Amino acid sequence: MIRTTQRLAPVLGMVLCALLSMTAAMISPARSGAVTASSCVPARPTSCTLRELATLNGIRIGATAEASETTDADHAGTLVREFDSVTPENAMKWYATQADPGVWTFTDADTVVAHAAAHDMEVRGHTLVWAQDSYTPAWVRAISDPAVLRAAVETQITTTMNHFRGSVHRWDVVNEPLASLGTGRSTSVFWSLGDDWIAEAFALAHSIDPTAELWLNEYGSDWVPGKHEALVALVRELIDRGVPIDGVGLQTHRLPGDPLDAARFTAQLTDFTSLGLQVAITELDVPVSPTDPDAFARQAVEYGAITAACLSVRGCAEITIWGVSDGSTWLDALGVFPTPTRPLLFDTAFQPKPAYEAVRAALAAPLVAASPVVDTSPPTSSPEILPITGAETTAAATVAFLLIGLGLLLRRSAGHRMRPSD
Ligand code: XIL
Repeated sequence: MIRTTQRLAPVLGMVLCALLSMTAAMISPARSGAVTASSCVPARPTSCTLRELATLNGIRIGATAEASETTDADHAGTLVREFDSVTPENAMKWYATQADPGVWTFTDADTVVAHAAAHDMEVRGHTLVWAQDSYTPAWVRAISDPAVLRAAVETQITTTMNHFRGSVHRWDVVNEPLASLGTGRSTSVFWSLGDDWIAEAFALAHSIDPTAELWLNEYGSDWVPGKHEALVALVRELIDRGVPIDGVGLQTHRLPGDPLDAARFTAQLTDFTSLGLQVAITELDVPVSPTDPDAFARQAVEYGAITAACLSVRGCAEITIWGVSDGSTWLDALGVFPTPTRPLLFDTAFQPKPAYEAVRAALAAPLVAASPVVDTSPPTSSPEILPITGAETTAAATVAFLLIGLGLLLRRSAGHRMRPSD
């Protein structure tokens, strides 16, 4: 069946692409005043944004936003140009939405969600329960009666998910259930609810929005010794018990000067997809030493390797970077690493760094390998999105559009992504 679909997919794709391009030409001007088409040719990665390339690969590429950043022209402009998914950096967390019992604040989160919707971006709901005491409101930590605490958790999950129903389709239901730097359980008050509290949280989340993807998100499993194995064991237990879990998010906050073991990291991703789950890199940042003259080159290698690892694993659905520009990284305020940590893809002036180019090249590579395209378009030096109307559509842009649509349909029809190994 899959083979038949694969054989028919190109024909079907061409027909549907033609229909889609005609439909887009008909409806887009009414909505936005102009048809926008991509000038992205993967063989010439500088013609593409990360967002365009990620879409062609069938994955999401995301970054964070705070409400205030949605009105910062540099942050917002870079965000919507380069990324198709946004994670509210803090606005959906318990300490932001219900800092005091019964007092709900969704304003900032609503701002981020509206910004995402206005720019056709997905939202990663982060997070319903963060199992670290240092990030749990004091009033919640102080609850000693498990029945009261269980009710508080249920209220937090229910109220938050109901508020965002229809606009957030993917939740980090539980964040960091394990000890930050260990392999056991975290010391969180939520573990006082007993062994089943994670399963209960997922079951409740599923009952509130059965269409939402439900994820477990964890820190440090890429480098804390033994933590990956502990996480796999926890996830396997949830699956064995029939818990409605869709994916595992690996935060992937890297350490300065700790080169990635790409094979090991790829195997870690595969350990979750082998369990039938999706996996995502949800909070990527790669801090560097302030005094290393080769810092950005080294950092680029890391970013490229992590991107390639995700792309090589069927079921790795997303790469989200924990910030946009080096000017607003959380790591500089953390007090753990020498500053400035400069861990992101854009510098403080929002100029793309070598790491950006490495991610772009890594995203382009499998597309070029899968379907080499003769590039006849004139060279440009920077990524661009060309606004064109139906009348102005050039033959080259039409071909590029058809190829993009064809690529998407091929991927969807065949039930997997275009990869060299495919
Ligand atoms: C961080 C934010 O970036 C900071 O602004 C905030 O002060 C603390 O939380 N793991 C997570 C993220 O799951 O939510 C954290 O975000 C970083 C570590």
